Amino acid sequence: MKKDWKTKLIHSDVRVPEGFRSLATPVYRGSTVLFEDAEAVDDRWNQYEAGYTYGLYGTPTVLELAGRICELEGGYRTIITPGGQAAITLVDLALLKAGDHILLPQSVYTPSRKFASRILRGFGVEVGFYAPETGGGISELLKPNTRLVWCESPGSITMEVQDVPAICEAAHKAGALVALDNTWAAGVYFDAFAHGADVTMQAVTKYVAGHSDLLLGSVTVKEDAIYQKLGAAQQLVGLAASPDDCSLALRGMKTMAVRLKAIEAGAFEVARWTEARAEVEMVLHPALESCPGHALWKRDFTGSAGVFSVVFQKSFTKERVLRFVNALELFKIGYSWGGVTSLAVAYDFRSSPGRPDYGHRIVRLSIGLEDVGDLKADLEKALEKMQ
Ligand SMILES: Cc1ncc(COP(=O)(O)O)c(C=O)c1O
Repeated sequence: MKKDWKTKLIHSDVRVPEGFRSLATPVYRGSTVLFEDAEAVDDRWNQYEAGYTYGLYGTPTVLELAGRICELEGGYRTIITPGGQAAITLVDLALLKAGDHILLPQSVYTPSRKFASRILRGFGVEVGFYAPETGGGISELLKPNTRLVWCESPGSITMEVQDVPAICEAAHKAGALVALDNTWAAGVYFDAFAHGADVTMQAVTKYVAGHSDLLLGSVTVKEDAIYQKLGAAQQLVGLAASPDDCSLALRGMKTMAVRLKAIEAGAFEVARWTEARAEVEMVLHPALESCPGHALWKRDFTGSAGVFSVVFQKSFTKERVLRFVNALELFKIGYSWGGVTSLAVAYDFRSSPGRPDYGHRIVRLSIGLEDVGDLKADLEKALEKMQ
């Protein structure tokens, strides 16, 4: 067919040579997916069954990242979401309905807690919280309508390590599923499915992506029945992940082992050094023997991450704790951890029900890839300015 130049802008006859091979995963962008003929048009979300039907359900780049995370976590299938919080809410929306009961640890990531207590409650879901140290004792809180129990181990900021196998055993006996936020362990230092979890999620934003430049999440399941519910919900909630971000995460994943190893060693050294300082009451790092969750961490984890918290002595006012954080130079002040830059954030738990009594004295550190001697020197200088 003869084409006007304006048509050629859209329907070109250019053909490039085939057979290009490289080590990078191609970035397949696309909302529209083309069908062979009118009969082939299909809107099923499961691209493993239906073939590709719509960009929302994942282009090959998105499914490649999903497959790789699934492989690492030893699951059946993984769904990629636009962020870690979207992964959490997808699990909640897919697995709960009005009249159901959900339990979350008091140490859970705050937006997960708020989604449950504000949005899920508004939809008629009964929401309860439990002490993160509760192991098999959770059976006392399980009700006939409990459908979902969340675990997050270690817990956000306060770092409680949970007895996930005991919680899973009790929950399963009562007919409830267990979902685990496995972000701290990067999906690799804690084998969620071997310890009984039914669903795991990760903020891929953190260690998988690894460079503080994108937001993505993942939900991994171990069986098809749960995958069907999650996939159907993802379609209707419309949670699409960017193929460009997935491509960056795939690149980040290739160096995750060496990054995690260096971060683990650096964080442990900084934690041990910090623990010996007179200004510090305790350091909440699960690999330290003094950390309350250490025995469970040793039993269940194969490594530790770079995020831990420092609790200052009771004599330190909030103003002095903030002065410490402000005096840091290499440690930047910001939330999203797991990148190559060390971070510090001060928290205040005085108005957080169910949280330990650390008040304003707790500072979370995330260790990056800087020289550990320089990080200690930075902390030392800031501790001096705090006096
Ligand atoms: C433990 C944990 N889970 C989930 C999230 C949410 O991830 P995102 O920031 O990608 O939404 C975070 C983010 O800080 C987190 O720390």
